[in-house]
Order: sequence, then structure tokens, then C-alpha cells
Amino acid sequence: MLSITYLSAASSALTPDALAHLVGQARASNAALGITGILVYSAGTFVQTIEGPQAAVSALYDRIVSDARHTEVIEVWRETTMRRTFSTWTMAFKELTPEEAAAVPELNDVLQEPAGAPDREPGLTPDVLLQLMDEEDRPA
Ligand SMILES: Cc1cc2nc3c(=O)[nH]c(=O)nc-3n(C[C@H](O)[C@H](O)[C@H](O)COP(=O)(O)O)c2cc1C
Repeated sequence: MLSITYLSAASSALTPDALAHLVGQARASNAALGITGILVYSAGTFVQTIEGPQAAVSALYDRIVSDARHTEVIEVWRETTMRRTFSTWTMAFKELTPEEAAAVPELNDVLQEPAGAPDREPGLTPDVLLQLMDEEDRPA
């Protein structure tokens, strides 16, 4: 399996409706492709992990990179792994306030200045993103 984590800048501030639509479509498509992951949105910045079969993840990442709804896509983590971090989610979703995002050290620097903190980016791993999900967010 392949796991890719990236961050990007939303092209315009997304309305809650537009975000819900994006996540709904992603979940349906990911379920069909065997892809799982998480999408985090905070004040115009996306952070996402997609994981699953190598070819499916690679093809999805290409589609995501060329999606006009965001720009400045920066890959921060890529690994081949036997283990899914988000096995129970077709796409977990978490919106964080700037205060909540700032409280996560690995997120804080990149959210302040996405392109300006290359030294910190390797710290932004799928496991860090998993910690953002509360028990009550988990599907039964
Ligand atoms: C931030 C962001 C995250 C996305 N995540 C997914 C995803 O997890 N799965 C998915 O199928 N599409 C996702 N998309 C949508 C894809 O970019 C693309 O629109 C979708 O795969 C349909 O591609 P197509 O129009 O070429 O068929 C995401 C888009 C954005 C902007």
C-alpha cells in the first residue's frame, strides 16, 4: 500500500456546504477504490492523507494535485506500508479553528507558512493527523 500526505491552500474560502460536498464525493469514490484517509481543513489550508492500493492512490493524488479548488500542493510524507492508519474511514474529516491547529506543534508551523517550514514538514505524519480524531468521531 501507498500512503501520501500533503498540504495545500484552498483557492477561496470554502463554505461549509462546499466542504461537505467535497467530502461526500470523496467518501463515495474512495470506498469504491479501497482508499482511506483523513482531510483536515483549517482557515484555508488543507492537510490530507490518502492511503490504499499503490496505483489507486497514485492516480488519485494526480487528480487531487490538478484540482482547481486548491493550489500550492506540497507533499510532506510518502511511504509504502503494510498498515493503514485510517482503516475505518473512507475519508475522516476534521475542521480545526486556528487556535486548535496552533495547539498541534507539527501543524502549527506549516499552517502559519506552508511553504516556509521545510525542516518541520517530516513531522507531519499520518499518526499526528490520527490524533486529531476524537473517539466520538470514529464510525461504529
Ligand atoms: C482538498 C481536496 C481533497 C480531495 N480528496 C479527494 C479524495 O479523497 N477522493 C476523491 O475521489 N477525490 C478527492 N478530491 C477530488 C478530486 O480532486 C477530483 O475532483 C475527483 O477525484 C474527481 O476527479 P475527476 O473529475 O477527474 O473524475 C479532493 C479534492 C480536493 C480539493
